[in-house]
Amino acid sequence: MRISQANEDDIADLARLLWLDTHHEEPAQQSVDAFAAELEDWWATHRDSHLAFVARLLGPEIVGMAWVALVPRVPRPGATSRLSADVQTVFVMPEQRGQGIGSALVDAASQHATHLGSMRVTVHSGRRAVPVYERLGFESSRQLLQRVAPRGTV
Ligand SMILES: CC(C)(COP(=O)(O)OP(=O)(O)OC[C@H]1O[C@@H](n2cnc3c(N)ncnc32)[C@H](O)[C@@H]1OP(=O)(O)O)[C@@H](O)C(=O)NCCC(=O)NCCS
Repeated sequence: MRISQANEDDIADLARLLWLDTHHEEPAQQSVDAFAAELEDWWATHRDSHLAFVARLLGPEIVGMAWVALVPRVPRPGATSRLSADVQTVFVMPEQRGQGIGSALVDAASQHATHLGSMRVTVHSGRRAVPVYERLGFESSRQLLQRVAPRGTV
């Protein structure tokens, strides 16, 4: 397995995985190609804040991805470049699951965020993926709270 940071050459593959991850939830479906063009535009303006890590096996195609969003924190005196990070959109092709690819991707994304200075890496996990994060050192915290928008408002 090879894990690397994604670049613009990976956009078509990333779009394909994002499409596979979510297209069953979207009422108005969009073609992968149309979405790839939108993703390219979006990433052009979010490249500093949103990094993706991708996994390959023997071939050139991407079989999994993990995104991490870097969140600049309000400065403190003497510390003006504080960061935290949020792992987002972890997806492994269904036929390649259970071999440690998802774990390796989350670990790479989290380590990179820490290396860049993030004091904390968070994730909003799906129910079944909780053990993946726990094995990598993520812990529930009583002090990390969320307020969810009422259904239908966003
Ligand atoms: C979660 C996911 C990325 C894990 O990828 P993976 O390469 O199989 O991960 P690993 O091999 O490192 O770990 C396997 C663990 O994934 C979890 N898992 C297995 N199937 C899963 C599924 N369909 N959905 C979510 N988690 C799953 C289990 O905890 C499993 O642990 P186990 O083998 O002890 O039962 C992958 O299952 C996936 O893409 N799921 C759909 C999208 C998703 O749920 N993403 C996470 C939201 S943050």
